[in-house]
Parts: sequence; structure tokens; C-alpha cells
Amino acid sequence: MIRPISISLSPNTEADDVRLAFGQIISFWKWRDRSPVLKLEKEFAERFGFSRAWSFNSGRSCLISILEAAGIGEGDEILVQAFTCNAVPNPILWQGAVPIYVDCLEEDFNMDAFDLERKVTPKSRAVIVQHTFGEPADIDRIRGVCERHNLLLIEDAAHALGAEYKGRPVGSFGDAAFFSFSRDKVISSVYGGMVTAANPEIGERIAGIQKRTKFPSLFWTVQQLFHPLLLNLMVLPVYGIGGKYLLVLFQVFHVLSKAVHRKEKQGGRPSYFPMRLPGPLARLALLQLSKLERMRVHREQIAELYLRELKNTSFVLPRSFPERRSSRLRFPVRNKKAHEIIERAWGKNMLIGDWYTSPVAPADTNLAKMRYEPGSCPVAEALSRETLNLPTHIRCSVLNAEAVVSFLKNYED
Ligand SMILES: Cc1ncc(COP(=O)(O)O)c(C=O)c1O
Repeated sequence: MIRPISISLSPNTEADDVRLAFGQIISFWKWRDRSPVLKLEKEFAERFGFSRAWSFNSGRSCLISILEAAGIGEGDEILVQAFTCNAVPNPILWQGAVPIYVDCLEEDFNMDAFDLERKVTPKSRAVIVQHTFGEPADIDRIRGVCERHNLLLIEDAAHALGAEYKGRPVGSFGDAAFFSFSRDKVISSVYGGMVTAANPEIGERIAGIQKRTKFPSLFWTVQQLFHPLLLNLMVLPVYGIGGKYLLVLFQVFHVLSKAVHRKEKQGGRPSYFPMRLPGPLARLALLQLSKLERMRVHREQIAELYLRELKNTSFVLPRSFPERRSSRLRFPVRNKKAHEIIERAWGKNMLIGDWYTSPVAPADTNLAKMRYEPGSCPVAEALSRETLNLPTHIRCSVLNAEAVVSFLKNYED
């Protein structure tokens, strides 16, 4: 197999996305056109019933802006779940605040409301609730804890665009919420994100913060436009015979960006956070947003295939909750040999997912710098040893999903 079955590497990109990216690279006179940004914010807010939405160049920039709008600063404690990405604790640390890690639940990979309540102290200011893999967290319980202790609730809906809890879109339950449009999220503009705020004071401050936040350089913007193009036309078609080295080369020479900068693993902040979403990337996001429902239905069909084909195997399947609708960003399964399976699959050019192999991923993140104390969240640590995730995106066909299933079943034998 030369083209991999991959969970990441530009998973949402179809031919029209590639054409749009190419068209924008050559239309240099439109690089500074900001009209698509307002259009995207308006369409996004209308579609999900938010009163307003403010775009930034990433979920990380969104979170920085929310924390600033909420007046979070030196010494404040922000409760976050372990089994997360360093993109969550880093913005907290960059504000001078302290991430306090809450354990998660095996059944949904999300925050455990009981452990949350145990970890509240007089310094606690806010809870960031993550909807992991797109599965809504137990919002009622978590909101209850926030109300009892007068804490702000921030929803990390980076994985969960289109997910619902009791028929309402995630992102509408907290004081503020953010979504991500980064390269392997529900929709993608390579880098991008959106803030919404049910709390009007926070919303007003976000609007002010957005106004004084700069747009990224043209170099950075065009670098992102190359991602769908080069991944789909040059890297993926030859991935198994050198494409992966081509990708590294493009990144080394800064033709393509990386999702996480090396310094973030040590708690450092790249210069391009926080910044606003530039017009060309807003255009990519608009096209993706227009395809969201078709892509969501596809993800659901692939997830149903996994549920059907993997039941009665040694793989522990995710639990279903009648009051929750997952975005199915990734389909997580558990197995004691998860890391071995992931490695073997990668060797066969089947790039199944490894979110998350550490309580604060990626695995080479400096946990001490993230203020994570080993042993403090045993469930999250067990999950990070046992979880692998399967692709559901629009480029993962039924045949691809069947190949993944048959690989897993063979492994079991
Ligand atoms: C759970 C979670 N929250 C937040 C983020 C940050 O999003 P972004 O990559 O757009 O900065 C990510 C993505 O890396 C994530 O996985």
C-alpha cells in the first residue's frame, strides 16, 4: 500500500478544498481580504444558534483570549482533565495560571465530576471541560460543580463541532467555548478556531481582545495554504515510498507548518499565538463548514461499522449515551496492547490514531513543565496506555474501515 489509511495528514481534504487552496495561493491580491472572516463568523454563529462568534488562528489562540477575557492570571487555578493535549494546559501556563489535573472516566474519556469536586480549592477560578473525541462530557454534573463553587465553565469543543447534548449544540453550555479548525479536526482550515460566549461580559471582552489582536504574516498564511495542496498532491500519493520523508523535508524548510511547535512540548509559546484568522484560511473553513452535515453523516456511518464489526472482540468499544450525540471525530477503542498495535499498524502504512499516549500528549511533552504529577490521575494514565483511535473522516471509505477492522481482528488471533 502506497497511500496510507490515515487518521491525520489532511483527513478532511477533498478535491474542491485542494482547488480552493491553489486558487488562493495564486490570487495574491486577495491575501489581505478580510471579508471572508466576517462571513465565516456570521455563518458559524447562525448555524449553531450562537449570538456571536469570534475567529482566531487556532484553538490555542481562542483559549488564550477566553482566559484573558475572564481575567485569569497569576496563581489562579484552572481545572482541566488529564488525557489531553499540551494545547490545553499551555495557554493556562502562558497566562501565569496553574493547570490542576482532574481524572477522567473510562466510559467517555471525559472529566470525572467527582474528582473535579475533590480538586476544587479557594484558588480555583474556572473549569475547562473537554469533549474528548467529540463525545460530549457529562455537562449537567460538571455545571453543577461549577455552580456550587462559583467557577467559570469553559467548554473545549476542539473535537466536538456538531456534537449535541440533550439536543443542544456543545459550546452553548459554558460561559464561553472554543472550537478548533486545525488540520485533523471536524472541519479544517489547517489552523483556525472559533470562540463563542454565552456570558455577555466575557463576549464583550472577547470582541475587544479580537480587535486588538494582530493577523499573522502573509508568509505564515500562505504556508498553511500549501498544506492541503502538497499533502494531497505530493506527500500522500507516495507516502509508502518516501512521501513521509518528503513531508519532513517540507517541514524542515518551512514550506509546511507543524501542528505543534517543538517548544510547546517544553511549555514555550510560538510567536504566532494568539493571532486572528486570516481571510484565506476563513475561506477554507467556509467551504468545509458547507460540507459539515455530509461529513458528519459519513463519520456516523463509519462509527456504526466499527461498533458492529468489533463487538465481541477483545477491543473495548465506547459506550453510547442516549442524551449525547458525538461528532465522532475519532473512534476510540481500548486494548491492553494498544501501543504495540499502533506501532504494528504504522509499519503497514495504516496510520491509526494514538490520542493520547500520555496524560498530556504528545508523548514527548515535558510533564513537569505542564505541572502534571505522575500518579495523580490513574484512570487517565491507564487510558493513555490502552487507547487507540480509528479514522471516521470523509476520506476514510467503508473499504478502508473494513481493512482497519480486519487488521485489528487478525491482531487478536
Ligand atoms: C483537546 C484539544 N483542545 C484544544 C486544542 C487546540 O486546538 P488548536 O490545534 O486549534 O490550537 C486541541 C488540538 O490540538 C485539542 O486536541
